[in-house]
Amino acid sequence: MTALTPRELFFDYNATTPIAPEAIEEMMPFLTEEFGNASTIYAFGVKARYGIERARGRVARALGAKPEEIVFTGGGSESNNLAIKGAALANRERGRHLISCMTEHRAVMEPLHWLERYFDDELTMLRPQRSGAIDLDELIASIREDTVLISLMFANNETGVLHPIEEVGRIARERGILFHCDAIQGVGKEAIDVNALGVDLLSLSGHKIYAPKGVGALYVREGTRLESFIHGGSHERGLRAGTENVAGIVGLGRAIEVVDARREEEMARLRGLKRRLAEGLQSALDGIDVNGDLERSLAGTLNLGIRGISGPRLVALAAEEGICIAAGSACRTGGTASSHVLEAMGLPQVDVDGAVRLSLGHWTSEASVDHLINALPPLIQRVRGSL
Ligand SMILES: Cc1ncc(COP(=O)(O)O)c(C=O)c1O
Repeated sequence: MTALTPRELFFDYNATTPIAPEAIEEMMPFLTEEFGNASTIYAFGVKARYGIERARGRVARALGAKPEEIVFTGGGSESNNLAIKGAALANRERGRHLISCMTEHRAVMEPLHWLERYFDDELTMLRPQRSGAIDLDELIASIREDTVLISLMFANNETGVLHPIEEVGRIARERGILFHCDAIQGVGKEAIDVNALGVDLLSLSGHKIYAPKGVGALYVREGTRLESFIHGGSHERGLRAGTENVAGIVGLGRAIEVVDARREEEMARLRGLKRRLAEGLQSALDGIDVNGDLERSLAGTLNLGIRGISGPRLVALAAEEGICIAAGSACRTGGTASSHVLEAMGLPQVDVDGAVRLSLGHWTSEASVDHLINALPPLIQRVRGSL
């Protein structure tokens, strides 16, 4: 048997991904000889501008948007901040009531709380159903005359659970409410068309789709009023000042094209591997539950509630064997705080304490899944014995 590569023992693709070789290849000239500032008019600048605009077209195509509706940012968190703060502050006359869900990423929660703290906005945070998805009747009941924005994620980063985004889009549109979707975990994994979804704003992040870290994009529907909060030059139509990260943007453009082209085949493969993994672990040991919904979730995301263990302890033991897994989100890995996502879903405390997230991606093979099925049970027994 050939030895597995470190990459094959990486089961944390929801935290980050390696950069696709195709993206690296297109980025290289912009990291070396093509160092121009895209705002200049000589050849170096023109090549940089061309790289950026080509990437804008590619991102737009992947989302069913127009190129001028894409704003490049410094990553997913920044896209969420721009969407939420920007929309709430630019549309004050429409109201100050915001709706979101208790399972959102902190990059959505914190901008919402910031608006509450400094601008007296009022916030309704919906509790999800046990499956992790929101209840549309509860959403409708929470809408007020002064609701200005609904912000809901496409897929949850801890459980992979999908919200009924298309229905939410319809509800928002019928009532003239702006709709922002954090699709950072959804892009490249599910079909995303901004018109079919009915979103006004949609965030994505490079490093979740095999592009570099520190680059992202925000889709802004034509005509949506948005306040910028990084002030300076007039880059990105005045919505995001600062000399562009040309190589990062070029990498993002190529990566989104690559993930889009292989998406259907790749997701069918990952869904098969996820089922194999869940079944393999559950038949090896008792007391392993799936947190969330095995089927109505991202193909490669598996959140397990392993009874009688502490998730972070198992993560640490696995790391000693070169296996990369997570206990909830990356922000929480290594920490002791409990998962706000699983708690909001109302799961039993044993499943929250023993939560482990296994997220699969391009370099996950059948051999690597089988390795995990063999390697994890003895480690779980060790943690169970030591508690
Ligand atoms: C759902 C979700 N939103 C936002 C973010 C933040 O994105 P970034 O790391 O690019 O700032 C992440 C990444 O952890 C995420 O999974």
